[in-house]
Amino acid sequence: MIKKLENGFILNTKNTTYAFRVLKTGHLEHLYYGKKIAIENMEPLIEQHNFMPGNTVAYNQETMEYSLENMRLEMSSYGKGDVREPFVEVVKSDGSFTNDFTYADSEISWGKQPFETLPGSYDEDGNVDHLTVTLKDNDLVMELHYYVYENCDVITRTTVLINKGKEKVNIKRLMSMQLDMFGMNYVMTTFNGSWANEMNRHDTKVAAGRFTNYSYAGTSSNRANPFVMISREETTEDFGECIGTNLIYSGNHYEAMDVCSFNKTRFVSGINPQSMSYGLLPGEKFEAPESVLTYSKKGYNGMSQNMHKFVREHIVRGKWKYKERPVLLNSWEANYFDITEEKLINLAKAGKDIGIELFVMDDGWFGKRNNDKSSLGDWFVNTDKLPGSLKGLSEKVDKLGMSFGLWVEPEMISEDSDLFRKHPDWAFRIQGREMHEGRNQYVLDMGRDDVVAYLTDVFTAVLGSADIKYIKWDMNRNISDANSAALPPNRQGEVMHRYILGVYKLMENLVSTFPNILFEGCSGGGGRFDAGMLYYSPQIWCSDNTDAMNRLDIQYGTSFFYPISSVGAHVSACPNHQTGRSVPLSTRADVALAGRFGYELDLRLLSDEEKAQVKEQIKEFHDYYDLTHEGDYYRLTERDNTSFTAWEFVAKNKERALVEVVKKDAWGNPLPVHVTIKGLEDNSMYVCSLNGIKRSGKTWNHAGITLPKFLSAGESMKFTLTKA
Ligand code: GLA
Repeated sequence: MIKKLENGFILNTKNTTYAFRVLKTGHLEHLYYGKKIAIENMEPLIEQHNFMPGNTVAYNQETMEYSLENMRLEMSSYGKGDVREPFVEVVKSDGSFTNDFTYADSEISWGKQPFETLPGSYDEDGNVDHLTVTLKDNDLVMELHYYVYENCDVITRTTVLINKGKEKVNIKRLMSMQLDMFGMNYVMTTFNGSWANEMNRHDTKVAAGRFTNYSYAGTSSNRANPFVMISREETTEDFGECIGTNLIYSGNHYEAMDVCSFNKTRFVSGINPQSMSYGLLPGEKFEAPESVLTYSKKGYNGMSQNMHKFVREHIVRGKWKYKERPVLLNSWEANYFDITEEKLINLAKAGKDIGIELFVMDDGWFGKRNNDKSSLGDWFVNTDKLPGSLKGLSEKVDKLGMSFGLWVEPEMISEDSDLFRKHPDWAFRIQGREMHEGRNQYVLDMGRDDVVAYLTDVFTAVLGSADIKYIKWDMNRNISDANSAALPPNRQGEVMHRYILGVYKLMENLVSTFPNILFEGCSGGGGRFDAGMLYYSPQIWCSDNTDAMNRLDIQYGTSFFYPISSVGAHVSACPNHQTGRSVPLSTRADVALAGRFGYELDLRLLSDEEKAQVKEQIKEFHDYYDLTHEGDYYRLTERDNTSFTAWEFVAKNKERALVEVVKKDAWGNPLPVHVTIKGLEDNSMYVCSLNGIKRSGKTWNHAGITLPKFLSAGESMKFTLTKA
């Protein structure tokens, strides 16, 4: 709910309150974000500004009342005294870069307004309240949009900049979120990594100066996810304050925490301003991506549950939002590039016998692609490998009783491809200078309309040529040589953002033409695991690292923001292809169960006993589907537990819960594993599948359970608690 008071605004969700006011100078002063408080007026929240600290700049000369550097602001700019991290930087036609946006107007409305250029949250029932605050700096108009998702305890923000003047201006930065807080020493948690090593959690206490989290890779990247948490040192999984924020954006992003000299901390999040210079012509507008904000007093788990619900209900769209996802078998780790129709059908047959529902042909089916050195861009079936083309293969798979899907990597181009020979200028390159490859490939200039139009046609033909039920959409390298042959020299600072807008356009074209296809995002695993991609693909391949023990950590990091229903997770062969480690088949499946489940190995090589185990695992995946897809997810172990990892799913209706435990290390003289249980109804009775013991939810929630056997390193155990 949004309340407009005489001089300010109060935004309430079920459990949180957000408040700010308009100062006499027209600036917006942030007053409060946190646990819900009952306030009818702003008075109790107002900070006295009768003191100008030291050498700060006085904004209001007459009263000497305000130093913008010492204010908590809803948005800030540089040049009028605030020397902290700015929200906006626009260079005007006279070259000046001082900005000063002040209040002009506001409006409350209902329903989520879609973006023109970007993915964003949506609401089907019109239950979202919308506040627009309009600010002005001469001929520049800035709209701050706030959307209140009451039931998820989420507030989202976006910024729109409109040039109402007669001259072009250049946007150097336009952030999506600013949150100015009292105090310092906040802990900023970021999720960093690299290929096959995504989503490592890092907690940094920011006592002074500026701490940043960013991607400059061209994608949201595995280097630093745009999701960050702000909490206190004492916050745990279940207790303490935690703010979670994420950006619905798949390109270069930037999050910074800036501690000011006057006991205040600023957080901003938005498009990475590095190298950005976006020209805005008279009459044009620029949309900054949507930023998502939630607060919980119930620790990290409370925050994660808000975010999971929000992503499931207000980001993921289409047929596959609620529909049960099929158990898939992917050909990559079984065959790599060595595919022919015969080999694929043999693999598929082995899958069918075991209960696989969707067979996915990975890389190697097009052009002359026998390794990763050629053919990206030539999206024409290699009929030497697949004589019956995609149609023939899909029909054979269909006859086996499975559906069929395939791998694509639309945004890339190989030097050795007909497409590159014909359109060398379609790749990012700087004329007259050497170009640089990553994974032996170049990047297409997706900001070009002709490139997006070409890819739309080509992939419409590919996807329409057979009964294709699933697409794995890959993007396998960071961007370099970002320079567009289609833009003049003074507009090259737009290239990175235009790239991602082009990707979104292409995805929207294909997703809307093929609404029944299940899309799975991928970027060498989790190199583009973000909320922008989830708007087009309800699930994303979380990592090329399929080692179950490494996956424990990668999936742990991912689970802080992203719901389990969005995490692609497969059982692969042992010794594992990435780490060489062997882990029991049961553990591999238990870890993959905390994701969208599949297999990625040559099933023909399994023993009869293992095949029987796999059949059982597939049954279990279906049996627990409601829990893993829509249930409340709890991390049961704190990050410093190096001995074991445990997590739990509680059904929406609280009828049952599934607990999974994986032992990480082995010691002589071992300690028993004691697991806490969470989220059961206090006053209902639940039976434990391990020992048949019946206790009240309250008892399970408080006393937990000691596992009846010692687990060895790499061993897993799972059990249910079912309402009696
Ligand atoms: C990327 C993906 C893999 C596989 C290969 C194919 O690395 O992450 O899963 O699809 O590309 O080349």
